[in-house]
Amino acid sequence: MGISNTELEQIKEQAFKDFSDFISPMKVRTLNQAGIHLMEGKREGASVWDITGKKYIDCQTGSGIMNVGRHNKEIIESLKKALDTLDIGVFLFFSQQKAELAKKLAEITPGEDLNCTIFGVGGGEAVDAAIKLARGYTMKTGIISTEKAYHGHTGFALSAIGRASYREPFEPLMPGFSVVPFNNIQAIKDKMTEETAAVIVETIQGEGGINIPGDDYLPELRKLCDENETCLILDEIQTGLGRTGKMFGCEHWNVVPDIMTVAKSLGGGIYPISATIYKKELQDFFIPHPFIHLSTFGGSDLGCVVGLAAIDYIQKHNLCENAQRMGDRFQEGFSGLVNQYPDLLLEVRQKGLMIGLQYTNESIGPRMTKKFAERGLLAIYAGTDSSVCRMMPPLVITAEEVDFVLNVVEDSMKELSKEKGIGKND
Ligand SMILES: Cc1ncc(COP(=O)(O)O)c(C=O)c1O
Repeated sequence: MGISNTELEQIKEQAFKDFSDFISPMKVRTLNQAGIHLMEGKREGASVWDITGKKYIDCQTGSGIMNVGRHNKEIIESLKKALDTLDIGVFLFFSQQKAELAKKLAEITPGEDLNCTIFGVGGGEAVDAAIKLARGYTMKTGIISTEKAYHGHTGFALSAIGRASYREPFEPLMPGFSVVPFNNIQAIKDKMTEETAAVIVETIQGEGGINIPGDDYLPELRKLCDENETCLILDEIQTGLGRTGKMFGCEHWNVVPDIMTVAKSLGGGIYPISATIYKKELQDFFIPHPFIHLSTFGGSDLGCVVGLAAIDYIQKHNLCENAQRMGDRFQEGFSGLVNQYPDLLLEVRQKGLMIGLQYTNESIGPRMTKKFAERGLLAIYAGTDSSVCRMMPPLVITAEEVDFVLNVVEDSMKELSKEKGIGKND
């Protein structure tokens, strides 16, 4: 006999209590307030089930870790097979798996020159490596990043984050960092000096609220960095691997960075791995000290097997094209809602399946999140701006699932529009 629903509810309640007691009561409280009572059970494609059986379409996906879909069977098989003979491997040695994934990354990144990789475990670590490399190669110290940027919570990455409340409790952070408004080339020109080692930006800001730069921004930034012998670091941790309808976000603007960071979906939703991919000429920095940047678990043999399987899956199943097609379907539905509910929805910012619903005020984000969850949709407001809802579903999402999401958003807006305290002037 299986476990009864009452028993499952008890298991869940105990886990919430233990999480609260031993990990973080505030996280539990915040999620409860947002109406998220999920304890992830079964996962498949674009869906996740609470352990008690309630099904959700997952448009949260850890901000883009699940591009290949949840619990992807092909990737799991490749990991299982690898486990017959491999373990994580010893990071000091070379291995076929590491070499193959690095070669593959060189092949799929834009331009001819992004050919070398430093492996890591997570995104922050990849950003740290990028900034260290830029400083080491240029022998300069200045780093320019942008307001609302999110690059992770490790040392160099945290220093580049564009949200003061994340940084300030830990100051003094790394010296030499300055933050300027995003999508403003003049602001970067004003800060750029002979001492600037790198400018780091996300091609589209994710955590900051799906902020898409104007068409000239990245090409002009590329030019500016070239003129000043400054490295351009593009953080593609959310935008990479098909999310925006192209393999990498920067391809929309035909810009090739000097250094690119990739993480999240490189792990196929199964096994953590990240990569800092850089132009071959920067390798000069490592000639005198090849072991100056190390990571015991970074680019483990198993992680590389999974990374290769994830890229292979994205290519074989044309997920870039599907992201574009399903993105277009979302766009059509959302544009109707902007017209229908102007007091709630100001605009929709979108490239492929990287979508931001800009509400008219900050109170709407949490209220909509709750209504979505009640109706079986996971989509949470952005970390730095609760007036924006981020939607980043798996790239395997089907047309029927897109329509389900659109119906949930419409129903939730219909209900919210009847409640008090809503609208631009309330
Ligand atoms: C754009 C971007 N860069 C860096 C990171 C940090 O990645 P991690 O949490 O794996 O350290 C994130 C995580 O959300 C991100 O979205």
